[in-house]
Amino acid sequence: MRVLVTGGAGFIGSEIVRTLTSAGHEAVVLDALLPSAHGGTAAPPTDAEAGSGGRVVVADVRDREAVDRALRGIDVVCHQAAMVGLGKDFADAPEYVGCNDLGTAVLLAAMAAAGVRSLVLAGSMVVYGEGRYSCPRHGGVRPGPRAEADLAAGRFEPHCPHCGAELESGLVTEDAPTDPRNVYAATKLAQEHLAAAWARASGGSAVSLRYHNVYGPGMPRDTPYAGVASFFRSALARGEAPRVFEDGGQRRDFIHVRDVAAANAVALEAVAARRPGSFAAYNTGSGQPHTIGQMATALATAHGGPAPVVTGEYRLGDVRHVTADSRRLRDELGWKPEVGFAEGMARFATAPLREAAAGRSA
Ligand SMILES: NC(=O)c1ccc[n+]([C@@H]2O[C@H](COP(=O)([O-])OP(=O)(O)OC[C@H]3O[C@@H](n4cnc5c(N)ncnc54)[C@H](O)[C@@H]3O)[C@@H](O)[C@H]2O)c1
Ligand SMILES: [Zn+2]
Repeated sequence: MRVLVTGGAGFIGSEIVRTLTSAGHEAVVLDALLPSAHGGTAAPPTDAEAGSGGRVVVADVRDREAVDRALRGIDVVCHQAAMVGLGKDFADAPEYVGCNDLGTAVLLAAMAAAGVRSLVLAGSMVVYGEGRYSCPRHGGVRPGPRAEADLAAGRFEPHCPHCGAELESGLVTEDAPTDPRNVYAATKLAQEHLAAAWARASGGSAVSLRYHNVYGPGMPRDTPYAGVASFFRSALARGEAPRVFEDGGQRRDFIHVRDVAAANAVALEAVAARRPGSFAAYNTGSGQPHTIGQMATALATAHGGPAPVVTGEYRLGDVRHVTADSRRLRDELGWKPEVGFAEGMARFATAPLREAAAGRSA
């Protein structure tokens, strides 16, 4: 296959390019090398890194002419380019919407014009908001955003919206209602809606892989745009204790970047054969939920300290628990995660992070 990987210079995109090219596919990378992700002085990946016949285009997905050129001879698009993380504050909203949603619209319009009918999208678990909960009396319930007064008082667990009882959290499936809780989450959900509309209008087929928390070598260093594993890993590298927010009991699913790249590879192979006009979402998680506190402890232990501190701090817009049921991806596409939590975190504790100021590191 000849694959256009947007965001192919990023953390996940560059691992996808490595996976594809080592399996004999060709990759064309299109990446704007955003300063928020690369620190402004990043060296673009070389054509050689994009594999045999591959090339690297440094351009924005909103640049229609550059996208048109990059799409020549492409069989399938793997759309990873996006601004990630919670950002600094609401002032970042136009830039998130621009990169993620206008960018997706420009890409899809160019694909429609070029007759490229297959898309794999980097989706996210953030589209669900809070995960799945059940009340002993009311069964499945959907608690709304947590009140700041509760968070400030250290009441972190969401309660039943009907009776206030403690809730039990479970695994979210793809048919759960979506409920994006911040600007980034809203843009990730809009990307899916655009992809579904494009598929219907153009007779294409689209798959969204809703990644859980991805970690692994090459993860960007801590910035307002990075993930929690990167904050902890960066603190340890400075000799500081990882600072764990809330009480550390927030549950997530940490998935290794190699497994995410493998999921993209199987989806890219499968998407062309899907029903024209179809859109489908697949949760992409390890299937082994862990708490943020457990993750901090695993990293700190493997790094040789210092031990994490639980600070009770919180961020509005964070959800308490969200963990995926990734059975659909295993059953329908035959994907299986290979890197276990203990092994992956132990290796990540000493793996290089991406040096934002000095270009990419492997
Ligand atoms: N890292 C995670 O835990 C995680 C979880 C869920 C979803 N995702 C999604 O995975 C994808 C890749 O994320 P990542 O963690 O590798 O982040 P990253 O910042 O390392 O990579 C994103 C890449 O996209 C590029 N980019 C951003 N906007 C662009 C634009 N307008 N035009 C061209 N290039 C642009 C950036 O320069 C960067 O190289 C994103 O779509 C993200 O939403 C990531
Ligand atoms: Zn109840």
